[in-house]
Amino acid sequence: MTFANLLVETDGAVAVVTINRPRVLNALDGTTVRELGEAVAQLAARNDLRAVILTGAGDRAFVAGADIAFMRGLSPLEAKEFARAGHAVFQALEGMPMPVIAAVNGFALGGGCELALACDIRVAAENAQFGQPEVGLGIIAGFGGTQRLPRLVGPGLAKEMLLTADRWDAQRARAAGLVNHVVPGEELLPFCRDLAGRIARQGPVAVRLTKEAVNGGLQMDLDTALAWEANLFGLVFATSDRAEGMDAFLQKRKPAFGGR
Ligand code: COA
Repeated sequence: MTFANLLVETDGAVAVVTINRPRVLNALDGTTVRELGEAVAQLAARNDLRAVILTGAGDRAFVAGADIAFMRGLSPLEAKEFARAGHAVFQALEGMPMPVIAAVNGFALGGGCELALACDIRVAAENAQFGQPEVGLGIIAGFGGTQRLPRLVGPGLAKEMLLTADRWDAQRARAAGLVNHVVPGEELLPFCRDLAGRIARQGPVAVRLTKEAVNGGLQMDLDTALAWEANLFGLVFATSDRAEGMDAFLQKRKPAFGGR
């Protein structure tokens, strides 16, 4: 996979996607958003992958937002299309069958914060900073921030971040539940690889269905969501992985999952 603004590497069952525009702190222009969509589609189709890590090039930024120079020239209708294109890509990312871990290695502002929000798990380097500075530019968050942030941290904290343009350091983000872990910068990728490895050792179909159960259920009322869970629970009993997983436990050995 060759892209102008992305690096994609696969190491065993884990792919690492790096947004690669360090000169502008990995800001997202139209090309980068489009390429991210292409990479997501290609990786989502790979049954051998158990997890994806998403990060930014360099040690200063994950993604410093949508590209302001690019957005400056947009008409209202073009801006709406840019937001809709971002939504489609971020929804495809969120809907990838395998879990996606955001390794936040610096600024995650605007579209960068929203990109991290579309991932399943967020891990921050100690120098990470999160924020939705759009109101300071006279615009609003348009890549899902007004919707995913309140779903993750609750409406009160989300509104404070969205309305003040304040930047949260990694510890504040951790306290709000925006990130799961804060680690020293040099340990960020090893930590995320280890986390991905722990996911990769579980039953592959079970991991995929668990993500589907959580993401799908978050769109539903509790009664419907529990019925959704029960159906997926029933479905996973049709896999040979569940026979292997249960047999391995009963025979006191490690399971050898085939992903079927
Ligand atoms: N869009 C376009 N270019 C951006 C960018 C963005 N979102 N964020 C940073 N850049 C560019 C800068 O213009 C600068 O380019 P230059 O060297 O050609 O002048 C380069 O990246 C380095 O950024 P700089 O501002 O010089 O670094 P800094 O350390 O002084 O500040 C930030 C870092 C992240 C605080 C600052 O760049 C910033 O506020 N960026 C915008 C964040 C934002 O509002 N994002 C939401 C957009 S909706």
